[in-house]
Amino acid sequence: MRKIIFATRNEGKLKEVRELLKDLNFEVLSLKEAGLQTDIKEDGTTFEENAIIKARTIVELSGEIALADDSGLEIDYLNKAPGVYSARFLGETTSYDIKNQYILDKLKNVPTEKRGARFVCVIACVLPDGQTRTERAVIEGQIAENIAGTNGFGYDPIFYVPEFSCTTAELTMEQKNKISHRAKALNQIKPFLQELEKSWNRKY
Ligand code: IMP
Repeated sequence: MRKIIFATRNEGKLKEVRELLKDLNFEVLSLKEAGLQTDIKEDGTTFEENAIIKARTIVELSGEIALADDSGLEIDYLNKAPGVYSARFLGETTSYDIKNQYILDKLKNVPTEKRGARFVCVIACVLPDGQTRTERAVIEGQIAENIAGTNGFGYDPIFYVPEFSCTTAELTMEQKNKISHRAKALNQIKPFLQELEKSWNRKY
């Protein structure tokens, strides 16, 4: 079976990718399962650049097909910050309680129509011959007035989704996985992998 290495150490993301690609004839491996130890420097200025940097590094190290994602939160009122710097915003080791409260304070008294925000996810797939495909997806929402919910991670407690009338931290994992930026981007890249599988089957 052809392998795909997913550039993550996050078990949750790995589970999500495996679930979404389970009907394809690929074995999806994490970095650890592929025996790869690497600290990839994400020094791109766009989600696309960072996802490609990660996937290319894995291809160079393994010679296998690589998938990588890069994601973050864009807040309209803050000129799309923290964006690609979402994990590093106010410092990598700063707790999300502090980061989230900081954002709420910045947006204090800002009216609803100016509180627009979105989670963005770009998935990159790089093949051993260098062929590269990226897919971008978003989930639109607003910065909440208050912190709410304990599910999820990162900025979930302040990301309000009008469609569900709650934050993404108040959704169950199943609900969030259905509407998430990551799930959408993965679904978008699936046809590319299906084509790859077909051309592989024709060859062998
Ligand atoms: P990465 O793509 O896993 O490096 O994620 C970058 C950062 O974006 C995370 O550390 C979070 O701060 C933020 N982020 C990305 N996706 C989500 C999400 O679904 N919920 C909350 N925060 C997220």
